[in-house]
Amino acid sequence: RQRVLSGIQPSGKLTLGNYIGAMKNFVALQDEHECFYMVVDLHAITVPQEPAALREQSESVAALFVAAGLDPAKAAIFMQSHVPAHAELGWLLTTMAYMGELERMTQFKDKSEGKEAVGAGLFVYPSLMAADILLYKTNLVPVGDDQKQHLELTRDLAGRFNYRYGETLVVPEPFIPKVGARIMALDDGTKKMSKSSPNAGSFITLLDTPDDIRKKISRAKTDLGREIQFDPQNKPEVSNLMTIFAQCSGQTVEQVQTAYDGQGYGAFKKDLAEVVVQALEPLQRKYQEVRSSGEIHRILKEGAERANVVAEETLRSVKEAMGFLPRA
Ligand code: TYM
Repeated sequence: RQRVLSGIQPSGKLTLGNYIGAMKNFVALQDEHECFYMVVDLHAITVPQEPAALREQSESVAALFVAAGLDPAKAAIFMQSHVPAHAELGWLLTTMAYMGELERMTQFKDKSEGKEAVGAGLFVYPSLMAADILLYKTNLVPVGDDQKQHLELTRDLAGRFNYRYGETLVVPEPFIPKVGARIMALDDGTKKMSKSSPNAGSFITLLDTPDDIRKKISRAKTDLGREIQFDPQNKPEVSNLMTIFAQCSGQTVEQVQTAYDGQGYGAFKKDLAEVVVQALEPLQRKYQEVRSSGEIHRILKEGAERANVVAEETLRSVKEAMGFLPRA
């Protein structure tokens, strides 16, 4: 039994990319392992958030965790800001990170590019993420491909800490799915599907209505040619749609390719829309139940209690190793 931890930001709505790249694995890991899953609200404020929107999105993402199949009796589900140790260890690790390694983070480069004022929080974001992971002595971190670099930095910081202050932290491994680790935008097969895209037609959210989903998929960009063929290099758009089909229907990409051999894009897209609608239908139903029952507050309270016990213990040992005077 291993420790598993991951988090999702409560900024905007969650996309099919978040679901396929991360959440599906959160659920798959909960039976065998000791899992901690959080809504990373402290990370979300690295870009300005409207308070009312942050509150609503936080509750919504927590409810989506449960709706996607996470069982609060198995996994601890909590808000990052309900466990103060995250901010505290985040600071301690910030003092150990180098400017150069933070400057190399592609997420920072993407989010700061062309901006005249870049928040300092955006820059030190990865050391807070490292704290998230290291506080739980985490072995496995289920994430999509875009978080790989942050995981590398987390491993480096853990190693650096242990070298300087003695074996204290566990060096974690990323857990990245073989298929679906990078779901692409519907309007551009070379860009990652992202909830922050200004074009709402480029992503499918987990709460889109069946009609929205059908519209977005029918308008999705497809490559020239007409074969349903998995070839991410030359046919990135169709290959991405095939990946989504496979992940939402429980088939392999090869099976999808065989099934649509000789058929055109029109028939394929029509079926894809139904596959996505059907995959999301139970999740959306459960989401409505969870939201209207109000049970999420109790789930988050219990999750935070479990998380705090583990996080406080690690923080205590970290501070002791670093030479902080214990509070009598
Ligand atoms: P975030 O909120 O951007 O995304 C949440 C998860 O979804 C994955 N993901 C994708 N996977 C496949 N295709 C896509 N198009 C796609 N878009 C997003 C992300 O890889 C991620 O796993 N820094 C993190 C949040 C975080 C965290 C942590 C994660 C904070 N602390 C500790 C793990 C452990 C982030 O911004 O994810």
